[in-house]
Amino acid sequence: ASGGELRYCNVVITAGPTRERIDPVRYISNDSSGKMGYALAEAAVSMGAQVTLISGPVSLPRPSGVKVVNVEGALEMHAAALAAVQAGADIFISAAAVADYRPVTTADQKMKKSAEQLQIALTRNPDILADVAAAPNAPFTVGFAAETQKVEEYARGKLERKNINLIIANDVSRKDIGFNSDDNEVSLISRDEVIPIAKQSKQALAGQLMSQIVRQYQKTQST
Ligand code: C5P
Repeated sequence: ASGGELRYCNVVITAGPTRERIDPVRYISNDSSGKMGYALAEAAVSMGAQVTLISGPVSLPRPSGVKVVNVEGALEMHAAALAAVQAGADIFISAAAVADYRPVTTADQKMKKSAEQLQIALTRNPDILADVAAAPNAPFTVGFAAETQKVEEYARGKLERKNINLIIANDVSRKDIGFNSDDNEVSLISRDEVIPIAKQSKQALAGQLMSQIVRQYQKTQST
């Protein structure tokens, strides 16, 4: 790659799961591997971008040439994302699998077992992507929608509800793609276009996705 289409561009990417603490040794989380977000970060670097990767706990090597901000819980990821956007971002890609809920309280000490049943009260986490899209001088915003049915319809709903520029729709009912798989096949949906991207490794897909994201971003810049 030469000069790079994203030279002078700040790209912020969230990746991986979040970990919502119950006590010092226990948490609620999910199976996100972080692979898609990390691959997108590498693709953006190779296009010349300055990349900030806000990452939940994953077991992936730290990509070179990327500023990594390690976070645990959704509230921490939310604060890091808004700080990165406030510092100046052109494109924000939300690839993290943010936990929808967190425990209302986190115990200071390891909880002891006692009663036969235990209930843990949960509260909704903020929507990081929607808050970034609503921020003053919001960047071009890109989200992911993992769906098991009516993939395009539900993805388009999220595009509108979160008021973002692009959504990458992913059919997670299929075992051969998506969560924890090395391959993925997606559609990129904007207000007026649907661009299918064929099944391939997350690495290769990331390159194609970044090119399409940049094309759509550039359309918003040329007016
Ligand atoms: O609403 P849903 O979780 O399906 O939306 C998925 C998109 O929104 C993803 O891009 C995800 O990273 C982002 N998201 C977020 N903060 C949340 C929940 C989802 O940024 N609390």
